[in-house]
Parts: sequence; C-alpha cells; structure tokens
Amino acid sequence: MVKVVAAAIGCWAIAAAVTASAEPPAGAASCTGCHPASTRVTSPVVRLSGLERDAIVKALQEFRAGHRAATVMDRIAKGFTDDEIQAIAAWYAAQR
Ligand code: HEC
Repeated sequence: MVKVVAAAIGCWAIAAAVTASAEPPAGAASCTGCHPASTRVTSPVVRLSGLERDAIVKALQEFRAGHRAATVMDRIAKGFTDDEIQAIAAWYAAQR
C-alpha cells in the first residue's frame, strides 16, 4: 500500500514536471515524490504546501548545514543554493 501510494505520488510529480514546467521553480517538482501534494494522501512526511515560507527556508538551511537531524533531507538540501531554496519555499508557501 505504501509502495502504491509512493508510486502514485511519483507519477504525479513526473506529470507535473512535464505539464506545468513553467510554474514551479527549479527543483520544486521533485519534492512531491516524497512530500504529498494532496491532503487526501496519508504520509509520515509532511505536506509542504501551505507551510510558512520562513519555516521551509530555515529547515532546508539547517538540513544542508547538518544542524537538523535527517534521514534524507540533509543530502537533498545540499543540492540547492540559497536562491533556489528561497524560490522553492516561496512557491510552496503560496500553494493551497
Ligand atoms: C526522498 C524523499 C524526499 C524528497 C525528494 C524530499 N523530501 Fe523533504 N523530507 C523528507 C523526509 C523523510 C523528511 C523528514 C526529515 C528526514 O528524515 O530527512 C523531510 C523533511 C522536510 C522538511 C521539514 C518539514 C518539517 O516541518 O519537519 C522540509 C521543509 C522539507 N522536507 C522540504 C523539502 C523540499 C523543499 C524538497 C524538494 C526540494 C524535499 N523536501 C524533498 C523526504 C523527502
């Protein structure tokens, strides 16, 4: 079941990247492979949409610096510059 849900989210992320590539900033579509885009998906990984912009920026910077415990986010956050983090955080904060 978890695998099915994860696969479904993964497909959505790929579809979103293809169909709405002009909308989300670089890298933002990759997040929904793990962070659910829909409120109807139950997952231990939090939804990003609607989180405070500053909270997303702070979390990513702490993950990147190794100051916040992580299983995967430390490695993911290292792939983004400060500008990219700002753009991704602003975009998710503006989503419903
Ligand atoms: C491979 C799965 C995966 C991907 C892809 C992913 N995340 Fe995460 N994210 C997690 C997990 C798991 C956690 C919990 C911390 C940990 O274990 O690393 C987390 C935690 C977070 C948190 C902290 C949430 C909180 O309030 O505790 C933020 C913010 C976040 N991710 C943002 C992002 C952004 C932005 C992206 C895309 C650039 C992204 N994540 C991509 C799995 C993922």
